Amino acid sequence: MNRLILLVLFAVLYQVHTVPLHTEEDEFLFKSWLSQYNKKYEINEYYQRLQIFLENKKKIEHHNAGNHKFSMGLNQFSDMTFAEFKKSYLLTEPQNCSATRGNHLSRNGPYPDMIDWRNKGHYVTDVKNQGPCGSCWTFSTTGCLESVTAIATGKLLQLAEQQLVDCAGAFNNHGCNGGLPSQAFEYIMYNKGLMTEEDYPYKAKDGECRFKPQLAAAFVKDVVNITKYDEMGMVDAVARLNPVSFAYEVTNDFMHYKDGVYTSNVCHNTTDMVNHAVLAVGYAQENGTPYWIVKNSWGTHWGINGYFYIERGKNMCGLAACSSYPLPLV
Ligand SMILES: *[C@@H]1O[C@H](CO)[C@@H](O)[C@H](O)[C@H]1NC(C)=O
Ligand SMILES: *[C@@H]1O[C@H](CO)[C@@H](O)[C@H](O)[C@H]1NC(C)=O
Ligand SMILES: *[C@@H]1O[C@H](CO)[C@@H](O)[C@H](O)[C@H]1NC(C)=O
Repeated sequence: MNRLILLVLFAVLYQVHTVPLHTEEDEFLFKSWLSQYNKKYEINEYYQRLQIFLENKKKIEHHNAGNHKFSMGLNQFSDMTFAEFKKSYLLTEPQNCSATRGNHLSRNGPYPDMIDWRNKGHYVTDVKNQGPCGSCWTFSTTGCLESVTAIATGKLLQLAEQQLVDCAGAFNNHGCNGGLPSQAFEYIMYNKGLMTEEDYPYKAKDGECRFKPQLAAAFVKDVVNITKYDEMGMVDAVARLNPVSFAYEVTNDFMHYKDGVYTSNVCHNTTDMVNHAVLAVGYAQENGTPYWIVKNSWGTHWGINGYFYIERGKNMCGLAACSSYPLPLV
């Protein structure tokens, strides 16, 4: 009996000792966050995640109290460290991202002050969710091919990221371990087609190639690369032609982005450091700051309904390092 009491006492003391201090309010917030994102943890991991969550929350509050062009908020990544996030969601560096002389031909403006392909017609599919797989490059690719095909044909299809994850390896792509839109467009061109999302559903993990030529739904006639660091070339393409795929470097503050114009003086701006690929669907400016309107692939609960704005005109985080789009074959 005495031994049991001792044991219980020891257990209680041990808990008090190892579980760092947090308020009831903190824990309440964490619990409601867990239920919002349908997450459950075993007791040990629970306290570990709670700590990371509270550190992230502190970082977010500190950022939001400062004077910044963008704000941060809690989202589905709030219980992850950046190292964990990077491992599950981003590309490994370096990718072979370097069009020293691209084949996009710019005209000489003038360009409209703002453009948003989401409002020009039925040209942009809903934001998708890559899940824990470094397949952002496949979503940037399908997003761009969906848009260029819709602009050419009037039909907006949903195209298959999983085919790119499973089948595009011969073009320096590595499924959940990364790839690049320009290389994926090359694959689609040489492979003669990409299937639809419906016929080749997304699984967020690597698998065997199940491409069926008779079900190919979208085609690439040519791949257009924009010369590295030619951000005006991107403006030219988005203003005159279509949305454009690009890559850039995500650093630790970006996973907490909520809204506003993202800027950073920490991220790198060179081709060898890009680790995430997305889709520019337009551009505009806010209080004198020009920015890109960008479709991400982290679901609609992240950022501005799945989108984000990033400063334009400075090759911010290397966003002009490696941009491209396909010419559709229709
Ligand atoms: C870059 O290209 C080289 C040569 O084609 C290749 O061996 C290497 O795997 C590529 N790197 C990546 C990350 O795809
Ligand atoms: C565009 O980029 C891809 C992938 O890096 C490359 O294979 C292709 O040769 C480039 N195309 C042109 C016209 O430079
Ligand atoms: C990268 O940023 C540095 C520092 O702001 C700047 O000097 C350099 O020109 C930039 N390089 C590119 C390729 O944009």
